[in-house]
Amino acid sequence: MIHPVILAGGTGSRLWPLSRQLNPKQFLKLTDHRLSMLQLTVGRLDNVNTTTPLLICNEEHRFLAAEQMRQAGFDNAPILLEPCGRNTAPAIALAALELIKGAHQDAEDPLMLVLAADHLIQDVSEFENSIGRAAALAKSGKLVTFGIVPSHAETGYGYIQRGSELGSEGFTVNRFVEKPDQSTAQNYLSSGDYFWNSGMFMFGARRYLAELELHRPDILAICQAALDQAQADLHFTRISESIFSECPEDSIDYAVMEKTDNAAVVALDAGWSDIGSWAALWDALPKDDNGNSLTGDVIAQDTENTLVRADNRLVATLGVKDLVVIETKDALLVAHKNNVQNVKKVVEQIKNDG
Ligand code: GDD
Ligand code: MG
Repeated sequence: MIHPVILAGGTGSRLWPLSRQLNPKQFLKLTDHRLSMLQLTVGRLDNVNTTTPLLICNEEHRFLAAEQMRQAGFDNAPILLEPCGRNTAPAIALAALELIKGAHQDAEDPLMLVLAADHLIQDVSEFENSIGRAAALAKSGKLVTFGIVPSHAETGYGYIQRGSELGSEGFTVNRFVEKPDQSTAQNYLSSGDYFWNSGMFMFGARRYLAELELHRPDILAICQAALDQAQADLHFTRISESIFSECPEDSIDYAVMEKTDNAAVVALDAGWSDIGSWAALWDALPKDDNGNSLTGDVIAQDTENTLVRADNRLVATLGVKDLVVIETKDALLVAHKNNVQNVKKVVEQIKNDG
């Protein structure tokens, strides 16, 4: 049986003004008009033999998370609540510790499938295949990462250089490189040796904790103490704030995957995207003959390659191209597609202006 662990603690600030502190990207309906990114994530496991997913998110999103899980068919799904974000290495440690809590020492190591709550995967059957390959390697003690076959020289993702073949399932890992610059990314793409790091993983819970103990014992000790002092509240587990706030921040990529000798990668070629920006969403959505993706009450004349989302009122565009126009109740974004990575800067300015 596979234990899905869903990471839902991100802020998604590049998708402002739709993604907000109280309603971040993973809880938004972006690629589907009925289901949020989180609901698509858990729904994608329908044909995989799994337990009820374990969700880990910030405590301020507990009702949103619980309600969306309920709508997705998981009443009372277990949810770990972080009092503050400390990035993915601690979040996954808490989930691993929770999974082995109470399990007999001799019982099999629970197999974790760590997924981000905000990714798009178009070819679900290919995704299912890759989970099968990853499970075989994870059962043999590997820490498996899903490597996306790259389609362009993206600088918003980490890269994984593959090593030698590991049976028919995957490859060893030569190295991880977090978010390279444009020319390096271009070289990686041309070489054919690199995958994008999807940020999805599979390993035994005890195996992960053993590697964390080796490379970041400080993180492990704090997570263990924070979970020991956690409070159960219905199906929520509230992690102790006084302890967890002392935890160093680190991603699983830096804390464990780059350092372990036991990393493996399985290839995934399934129309994956982390929808990290409005341009990435435009890429992923169906478009009309003019390359426009229009959602809501929109009139677009002489408009090309443009993403418009109107949630509250009629939006009309005339004689423009390569734009992103996002209309919400209290804010409007009009941006050139080449500049959408800088939406973060707008969010920072709003914070600074108070
Ligand atoms: N629960 C919890 N707590 N989840 C978290 C936390 C946290 O403190 N921090 C991040 N997450 C979740 C986010 O919601 C997201 O789904 C995932 O973990 C990855 O975090 P991001 O902050 O979005 O990372 P990134 O996009 O900059 O980079 C990572 O993901 C890329 C692919 O999307 C790296 O792994 C890159 O190498 C990778 O290419
Ligand atoms: Mg991300």
